[in-house]
Formats: sequence, structure tokens, C-alpha cells
Amino acid sequence: MSEFEYRTTTEDLSAENLGEGFFDEWSNPPDPETHLKILENSDHVVLAVYDDEVVGFITALSDGILSAFITLLEVLPDYQGRGIGQSLMNQIMEEIGEIYMVDLVCDANLSRFYAELGFATTTGMSRRDYRMQSGRSN
Ligand SMILES: CC(C)(COP(=O)(O)OP(=O)(O)OC[C@H]1O[C@@H](n2cnc3c(N)ncnc32)[C@H](O)[C@@H]1OP(=O)(O)O)[C@@H](O)C(=O)NCCC(=O)NCCS
Repeated sequence: MSEFEYRTTTEDLSAENLGEGFFDEWSNPPDPETHLKILENSDHVVLAVYDDEVVGFITALSDGILSAFITLLEVLPDYQGRGIGQSLMNQIMEEIGEIYMVDLVCDANLSRFYAELGFATTTGMSRRDYRMQSGRSN
């Protein structure tokens, strides 16, 4: 029988459980091994898992006192539009716990998605070094 579950740990997770299709539209995406390291190294992670395959994930970094940053959120295209993204957001907020500030960066077309979850539009600044986008130095 097919099984869908959310997990807040990377225990027992391997790169083989991270299916093709993540980092959609990234020109130089991390490979599954690097993706696994990103999940393991994050302070908080929530995974949406279907039959042992990760179909969605969210990560956050936190100082545990004042501030947290939601770093990555993605749901595989076949699983989008079913409430998984919203549920991952709600669960990572629970994992982060009560804290003064939670920030993230997103494209303008997603501001409604995050506004529904209590986030307000602000001015942000970001810097990207695309040579490093895969998480490897080459
Ligand atoms: C953004 C993303 C995580 C949403 O995941 P999802 O599982 O499809 O979202 P949900 O099904 O929980 O949608 C919740 C609500 O947000 C809306 N929404 C979802 N994606 C949206 C989008 N791209 N633009 C506008 N609204 C969106 C849905 O319509 C839904 O609204 P409703 O409750 O009124 O129907 C997913 O589209 C995705 O992985 N996109 C590619 C990667 C990305 O952009 N990540 C975010 C980086 S900041």
C-alpha cells in the first residue's frame, strides 16, 4: 500500500530517496548527494515522503534565540497544488518554534502564498555566486 508521511529528520535517508526533479530551473543544480548534505546540515528540515521517495522538502537555519531563515522549499511538480507546500511551511514554523524573526527570500509571484502564512513583504538584499550553485567548487 502506498504511504505518504512527513518527517522532521534525515535519519535513514539516502541520496537514492531524493528523486529526480528537485532544483527545477536551476542552471547548475546540486546532485542528490549534495542535496542530502544540505538537508543534514540544516538546523531544521521537514520532508514530504511518498513510498520512501522525497517529493517535497523545506530547510531552515536558526540561531535558536532571535532569528531563523527559511532557506529552501520545493515540492516536485507532480505533487504541487495538493497543500504539501503549505503544510511544509506550517511544520517548519513549528520546528523553529516561537522566535522573534523568520525571514525568507522569494519571487514576487509567491508573495501571496507566504502572506497566507503570516509573512509580510519587506525589502531584502541578496547576493548569488552562480559558480557555486551546485554546492561544489567546480
Ligand atoms: C511554491 C511551492 C513550494 C508551493 O507548493 P505547493 O505544494 O504546490 O503549494 P500548496 O498546494 O500548499 O498551495 C498552497 C496555496 O498557495 C498557492 N500557490 C502555490 N504555488 C503558487 C505559486 N507558484 N504562485 C502563486 N500561488 C501559489 C496555491 O494556489 C494554494 O492556494 P489555495 O490554498 O488558495 O488553493 C511549489 O510550487 C514549488 O515547489 N515551486 C518551485 C520551487 C519554488 O518556487 N520554491 C519556493 C522558493 S521561495
